[in-house]
Amino acid sequence: MSPSPAPDGAPPLLQVEGLRTWFPVRDGLMQRTRSWVRAVDGVDLTLDRGFTLALVGESGCGKTTVGRTLVGLERPRAGSIRFDGVELTQLSPAALRPVRRRLQLVFQDPAAAVDPRMRIGEAIEEGPRNFGLPCRSAELLERVGLDAAMALRWPHELSGGQRQRVCIARALALEPELIVCDEALSALDVSVQAQILNLLADLRRQHSLAYLFISHDLSVVRHFAHRVAVMYLGRIVEEGPTGRVFERPAHPYTRALLAAAPRLTPAPHHPTALLAGDPPSPIAPPPGCPFHPRCPEALAGRCAREEPPVLPVAGGGISRCLLAPERP
Ligand SMILES: Nc1ncnc2c1ncn2[C@@H]1O[C@H](COP(=O)(O)OP(=O)(O)OP(=O)(O)O)[C@@H](O)[C@H]1O
Ligand SMILES: [Mg+2]
Repeated sequence: MSPSPAPDGAPPLLQVEGLRTWFPVRDGLMQRTRSWVRAVDGVDLTLDRGFTLALVGESGCGKTTVGRTLVGLERPRAGSIRFDGVELTQLSPAALRPVRRRLQLVFQDPAAAVDPRMRIGEAIEEGPRNFGLPCRSAELLERVGLDAAMALRWPHELSGGQRQRVCIARALALEPELIVCDEALSALDVSVQAQILNLLADLRRQHSLAYLFISHDLSVVRHFAHRVAVMYLGRIVEEGPTGRVFERPAHPYTRALLAAAPRLTPAPHHPTALLAGDPPSPIAPPPGCPFHPRCPEALAGRCAREEPPVLPVAGGGISRCLLAPERP
């Protein structure tokens, strides 16, 4: 069952506007900034408590950079991140620290995430101890489906699935309200993926957790997310309720991405041009619509010049495209 949206007047848990995170490309000797990798180049996102928003798009489009910027591992160059109504980009590091605790990241490689020199229990208790929160590794291990006795084991004694559960327990130990899951299931086999997905769904319901769920696996996204944001070259090109995006994708890029997904049947009422070529470089994005050089539906003369408008789509969400979607 879907959670209820935020009550009227309550701010969304997360509201991101115009977010830009660029990385400098430096000259060899002088280390002067020669140009910028525009990894995230004007991203808007909204996420309510208890909901899952998936972030999808080809490799290199900026998904991880969005997640890392949200949890404070990268500094944005511009834009706004409001978490529970508080503007994070304006806070001092000291003021930011307790807010960051409420925003956690679980990423792809559980082996790299756990210090090999710490017993599992110590690893789980490290974060809460730093924040003066109660340490309860046994309870957390049980909550993620592991035996409490595992607290005494070393990371190398665990399987990949067990280690990913430990990473989730470590995130939960800080009592977060939002967890960014960056390809958190990719390293696991399908049956373990299903167990972890069930665990994440249970935890979401029990704690009204929100997830920003970054994944290449569109079949998992379809099953797991309430809403989907589709990213291309640093921007969100389409967003909307999962059912609408999968059944009636409004943006030509979303259509191509869905058609390219091996385990999904393409929606029958759309032409399904496969994605040709690689995405352009985020150092010098094409003018107009950044997707126009690969877009099978590009309008001659216009898409190469005009900034695509953000338009509402029938059934919910938006599409950033000159081709008018069905109006609500
Ligand atoms: N620290 C960095 N310094 C310079 N460029 C970076 C840095 N981190 C990421 N990038 C570049 O930013 C762009 C976006 O990278 P990012 O890792 O966010 O993509 P992604 O969508 O997560 O890709 P994937 O699906 O492969 O994980 C890429 O062009 C990448 O090379
Ligand atoms: Mg990534």
